[in-house]
Amino acid sequence: MIIEINQACDLVIFGTKGDLAKRKLLPALYKLEKSKKIHDNTRIIGAGRADWNRLEYKKIVKTAIQTFLNEKFDNFIWEKFSTRLYFCNIDVYETLHFFRLKEILQKQKNINIFYCAVPPNTLNSIFKGLGDTSLNSEPARIVLEKPLGICLKTSKLINDQISKYFLESQIFRIDHYLGKESVLNLLALRFANSFFFQNWDNQTIDHIQITVSEEVGIEDRWNYFDKMGQMRDMVQNHLLQILTIIAMDQPKNLTSEDIREKKLNILGALKRIDINNINMKTVRGQYCAGIIKGKKVFSYIEESGSNKSSQTETFVAIKVEINNKKWFGVPFYLRTGKRLSHKYSEIVVVFKKNPINLFKNSHLKLSHNKLIIRLEPNPNIKIDIFNKIPGLKQEYELESSQLEYNHIYQKNYKNSIDAYERLLLESMRGIQSLFVSREEVEEAWKWIDPIINAWKEKNKNILQLYISGTWGPKNSDLLLTREGRFWHKFQ
Ligand code: BG6
Repeated sequence: MIIEINQACDLVIFGTKGDLAKRKLLPALYKLEKSKKIHDNTRIIGAGRADWNRLEYKKIVKTAIQTFLNEKFDNFIWEKFSTRLYFCNIDVYETLHFFRLKEILQKQKNINIFYCAVPPNTLNSIFKGLGDTSLNSEPARIVLEKPLGICLKTSKLINDQISKYFLESQIFRIDHYLGKESVLNLLALRFANSFFFQNWDNQTIDHIQITVSEEVGIEDRWNYFDKMGQMRDMVQNHLLQILTIIAMDQPKNLTSEDIREKKLNILGALKRIDINNINMKTVRGQYCAGIIKGKKVFSYIEESGSNKSSQTETFVAIKVEINNKKWFGVPFYLRTGKRLSHKYSEIVVVFKKNPINLFKNSHLKLSHNKLIIRLEPNPNIKIDIFNKIPGLKQEYELESSQLEYNHIYQKNYKNSIDAYERLLLESMRGIQSLFVSREEVEEAWKWIDPIINAWKEKNKNILQLYISGTWGPKNSDLLLTREGRFWHKFQ
């Protein structure tokens, strides 16, 4: 069912005092106000344990937006936005408190959206509280943040708990990478351009690299991150989602059912990595002290709250293979890490060489053509090609050149749409295609769990240290060089 874009909603934010709400959700909602995407009667209701009245809540929200907004704060927009704000003092472990929320919600006949920006151990109380007060009935929606569990078993538990109260069509599981403009553009690039569409399989592609590199460390999140590691925090969701979009077959249309089905086919076809091949397929690392952009940074085990003997990985590189006809023999190399040299995300599609080299007299070896898709920062597309150097020489003299296109810059498009802006709007529209299905989450865990279990085996896959500000452990290069390949250099 597609709900009209201008439908009025009551957006309840559980965890409104938390980091995510302050840094991301509230500034994104303010920006949606600015772009006039929110229905006039939509209300935003902060929910949490605090003795705030409406005025106090407004002040807190204003400070958060002023602090984290990535553009100039406009008082005129704020005045309008602030009329939408309400606060409900609610202890989610007390079912009776949910009646307070119900009272506020019943004042208008809006569609209720419950956004759970809370730690996973609070989720079930929220589901139950909403269920026991019948706030769960359709057309209510519920939005869940990652992490959804730390393994298949815990993820299933959350999904089972929520499914007692909500239908799958009411559940919106966030992976904020799916709301990024440059990730959305991948679908357009692949399926609106026959040039790419026709050249997208093991006949033409040698291998694909996906890098999501971060400069930040764990940002005071030891308790969260040390239990997760980069594999659960980044690979299980963001990197696998990018991989599925790059590898999936063309969906019949752009409905959430079709897109999710195609992505699921890829997740289900990932070749298992376990104790038997863990060393050949994965590298895990942890950062030690170093320098990033001229600033000295501490090692992982010196982060505040740390446990000095932690074996948690802050870097992962993996060789992924997809067991289907289209991708047989084409490795996907994924790498992601914290405290690396630069923050950027990129997909590099390396094409097979032309088997016949017409130019062998002057160029014994031709290198691979590459399609380089920069997702962030400054999204752009580059293609490495060969050209003849003009001149009268008898032999062909070739040089490699790069075609480059940055459509946002070249067409002067607005470049600052945040992923959360998009995803909040889609949840208000009731469209699920940018959200992750239960099957996708669980299929991803099925593939991730054996890797993490193999890492736990003694002496099987040793955690490698790397210096902050580099590109990760040396073995990450080895993953490719032993197959005659190289990570594409950051440019
Ligand atoms: C989050 C992770 O999901 O994504 C963080 O929990 C990570 O650890 C962040 O830093 C990266 O997001 P982005 O949008 O900055 O690439």
